[in-house]
Amino acid sequence: MPKTIVIVGAQFGDEGKGKIVDFLTEKADLIARYNGGNNAGHTVVVKNDVFKFHLIPSGIIHEGKLNVMGNGMVIDPKVVVSEIESLEKRGYDISEKNLIISQNAHIIKEKHVEEDELTGSKIGTTGRGIGPCYTDKAARKGLRMIDYIKEDNKYAKKIRPLVKDTSLIVSQYLEDEKNILFEGAQGTLLDIDHGTYPYVTSSNVVAGGACTGLGIGPTKIDAVIAVAKAYITRVGSGPLVTELGTEEETNKEDSINKLKRELGDQGLSFLKRKIINKVNEDDEYSQGRLLRLNGMEYGTTTGRPRRTGWFDALIARYSARINGLDAVAMTKLDVLSDFKKIKICTAYECKGKKSSEFTNNVEILKDCRPVYETLDGWCKDISKAKDFKELPENAQEYIRRIEELVKVPICIVSVGPGREQTIVLKKQFLF
Ligand code: IMP
Ligand code: MG
Repeated sequence: MPKTIVIVGAQFGDEGKGKIVDFLTEKADLIARYNGGNNAGHTVVVKNDVFKFHLIPSGIIHEGKLNVMGNGMVIDPKVVVSEIESLEKRGYDISEKNLIISQNAHIIKEKHVEEDELTGSKIGTTGRGIGPCYTDKAARKGLRMIDYIKEDNKYAKKIRPLVKDTSLIVSQYLEDEKNILFEGAQGTLLDIDHGTYPYVTSSNVVAGGACTGLGIGPTKIDAVIAVAKAYITRVGSGPLVTELGTEEETNKEDSINKLKRELGDQGLSFLKRKIINKVNEDDEYSQGRLLRLNGMEYGTTTGRPRRTGWFDALIARYSARINGLDAVAMTKLDVLSDFKKIKICTAYECKGKKSSEFTNNVEILKDCRPVYETLDGWCKDISKAKDFKELPENAQEYIRRIEELVKVPICIVSVGPGREQTIVLKKQFLF
C-alpha cells in the first residue's frame, strides 16, 4: 500500500479531483497542493453541505490534517483570506496546525489580474492573473510570500502566521511515514509543457510537478492516480477532438443559474426529457448538452458552460504515459445513465490517416476526427450502487473496455457527488 499518492487530472481539469481527494483524505495526514492558483475550483459535498474551494486544499474540512499550499502555487492574498474567513464563519479554526503556505509561493498582484483580463481572452483564461504571475516568476521579478508578509496590510497580517518552509515540514511527514496526498490542480492536457500549447495553463500540472512544486524528490512518490471523467469536458479554447456540438454553440448557452431561474426545477426536467429524445436520435449537440445538464458542467470558478464530448482513450493513454499512472479513478459514470448508446474514441483520423497515439500538436489536432466504438448504455439509475457487482452489466462492460484501451487499472468509480457514492475496485492503490 502506498504512503504517498499524487492525484492528477487526466483530461482538461474539472475531472472531480476534489471529490476523490476528499475521499482519500480520510486516511491522509497531510494534503499538499503543488500548482496553479485560483483558476482552479473544487466542489466538495459532505452530507448536504456544499464547499467550494479555489486555493485551500479540501482536506481543511477534515479534522486533524495538515494542508499545504506549495511553492509551485501562485496565490492571490485576497482570495486566500476570503476562503479562510468563510471557513471561520462556518465554525472551522484555521491556524498553522491545519494550514501552511510556502514562503516561496508567488503572489498574484492586481496588475496580473488586469493584464490577464486584457490578454487572456484569446485562449479563454480564467482571468485570475495566473499567466502574468508565472511570467514574473520566470523573469525573476515576482513577489514571493516571504516578502509579501512583511507588508503592512490586513491580508499580509492574516496570512503571516501560516507562511513556512513547507518543503521542510513535508519532508518531516515523509520521514515519519505518514500518509500524504499530493494534489495537482487542472488537468494533464492543460500542462504548460505537455498540454495542447498554447491552450494551456502556466504551470506543470503533471505528476512530476509535485516534486518541483513542493520541494520533494521523485523517489518519495509511491503511487500516481489520475482522475478521469467517464466522458470529457474542456473550458476555454483549444482542440477537443471528441467534442459534441461546437464551441460556439456551447458558449451561446445560458448559465445554469439563468436556466434554473427561468425554468424552475420542473421546467428543467421537462427540458431534459426533450433533449433525451433527441439524444437517442443521435443528435450530437443534444448529446453534448445532456452531458452538460446531467453533469452540471458549468465552471466553479467562472460559471461558464463547459464544452463536452465522449471519452477519449487516446488522451487517457497519453495521460497514463506522461504521468506514469498506476491507476485511474473514474468519476461521473452516473451522468451517462440516460444514453441508449455510448461512444468511446479509440483512434483519430487525420487527413486520411488513422492514428491511435495522441499528439499535443494543435496544428495536427485541428484536422483530427474521432473514430468511435459504440457500446450499449444501461439506462438505469446507478447512483446508489455500492459495489462493482451492483452496477448494470453494460456499465461494468464500459469500465472494463476503458481499462483495456487505456491499459491502466481503474481503482475507483464514482457514481455521484456524495462521499458515499464512491465504489472502490482496487484497494491496493489506496492508503
Ligand atoms: P488560466 O489557467 O486562467 O491561465 O487559463 C488557461 C486555460 O486553462 C484556459 O483554457 C482555462 O479555461 C483553463 N483552466 C484553468 N484552470 C482550470 C481548471 O481548474 N479547470 C478547467 N480548466 C482550467
Ligand atoms: Mg474545477
